[in-house]
Amino acid sequence: MIAAISAVAANGMIGRDHWLPWDIPEELAYFEATVAGAALVIGRLTYESMDVVPADSFIVTRQPDLPLRPGCHACTTVEEALRRALATGKPVFVLGGASIYAAAWPYCQRFYLTRIAAAYPGDTLFPAEIPLADWRIVSDHSATYVERHSGQPVSCRFLQYEQDAPKPL
Ligand SMILES: NC(=O)c1ccc[n+]([C@@H]2O[C@H](COP(=O)([O-])OP(=O)(O)OC[C@H]3O[C@@H](n4cnc5c(N)ncnc54)[C@H](OP(=O)(O)O)[C@@H]3O)[C@@H](O)[C@H]2O)c1
Repeated sequence: MIAAISAVAANGMIGRDHWLPWDIPEELAYFEATVAGAALVIGRLTYESMDVVPADSFIVTRQPDLPLRPGCHACTTVEEALRRALATGKPVFVLGGASIYAAAWPYCQRFYLTRIAAAYPGDTLFPAEIPLADWRIVSDHSATYVERHSGQPVSCRFLQYEQDAPKPL
């Protein structure tokens, strides 16, 4: 199965200065636990922002000779990255960023989306064209954590959406 995973603020922001607009360690831990052991499809900018990138990561870039960390493979299209990730036999997660969600969502059966109930300044928006409102919600739970920059409590709603007929690769 191909899935995507993202977290989005109430104002649609997903990124700021090459990282996240918020600091919520519990939400980051949920993300890390969810994608553990999967093959990953990652945009080049998001890849460069990550401290640790596991093996079987497929980095989408228009620079085919881009030097990458061990276990990471450059792919010049999202479709190539998804095919090569599937060929590992592992579950596949699309990690973003915005440009990769926008290209990969038609192929995803499931979308893990954490909706963070506060607005944060940022420079990267979740792509508005992804029609999640038409997908089925198959899992939904919420928890409140402290956002570390503001010191304020914030509710995180952990949703899983499914679309019935993802586009075949
Ligand atoms: N909140 C979340 O869940 C979440 C998740 C992931 C990322 N983020 C944030 O999102 C921001 C980064 O997102 P972004 O959209 O700016 O960058 P990105 O999607 O991570 O990477 C963009 C790069 O991917 C390559 N690329 C994109 N589309 C391509 C295509 N169709 N074919 C080939 N290569 C393609 C290009 O690399 P080249 O320039 O090398 O050609 C492009 O510069 C960061 O702030 C990050 O922290 C947030």
